[in-house]
Amino acid sequence: MKIGVFDSGIGGLTILQELLNVLPNEDYLYYQDSLNNPYGDKDDDTLRVIVSKIVDYLKGEGCKVIVVACNTATTRCISYLRDKYKDLIFIGTEPAVKVACDKGYDNILVMATPATIASERLSVLVANNKKEKEKIYLVGCSGLASAIENNDVKRQEEIIRDIYNKYALKDIKAIVLGCTHYPLIKDLITKYFKDIPLIDGSLGVSLECKRQILLHGMEINKGRGKVIIYNSKNG
Ligand code: DGL
Repeated sequence: MKIGVFDSGIGGLTILQELLNVLPNEDYLYYQDSLNNPYGDKDDDTLRVIVSKIVDYLKGEGCKVIVVACNTATTRCISYLRDKYKDLIFIGTEPAVKVACDKGYDNILVMATPATIASERLSVLVANNKKEKEKIYLVGCSGLASAIENNDVKRQEEIIRDIYNKYALKDIKAIVLGCTHYPLIKDLITKYFKDIPLIDGSLGVSLECKRQILLHGMEINKGRGKVIIYNSKNG
């Protein structure tokens, strides 16, 4: 089975890494859309054109299952994609709000791109999972994904320091990393928010991918799979 995985750059590799733990023998085609990074500041019409082009490519390469390894593309476009490509199976990545709420943390900080924070899907996710005693702070981290993509360490630190200064007195008990780029800077986040658990959705996405493959009667590979990475920047 060939599984297509895409993101606006290197962030989705954090999902691919977990997919390789859960489904180690599949073939993976990773579409790293660095050319169009960041997604998080784009409008829905622009994003739809971008993700359709990627899905056309992955489909043309024989992928039947597509993991949207991007919270922004999932929260803004996955319904559109499921409607448009009825013959494909899409697995989305959403901020792991449910995981954090189920653990019973009182004050939860959700970091994501501005587009994810403003999305209807995230509001629904919060409304469906938040318990009365829980406080959920939604933080749109404009510029953070591109600072990670471009390895701009100074900008990354400025953004995290600003967030910390704003929320230092809120007694935050857990942080949801609602953008797949953010697990790549866990050390920096922990430098400020010491001892606070960081929760991301990579395991949930990978288990859901396996569940969907089995549900659709497709076979799990037994032999050895391969990983191919395509970067849109390199044409
Ligand atoms: N890594 C993506 C996400 O999970 C997108 C970041 C961006 O391109 O703005 O939202």
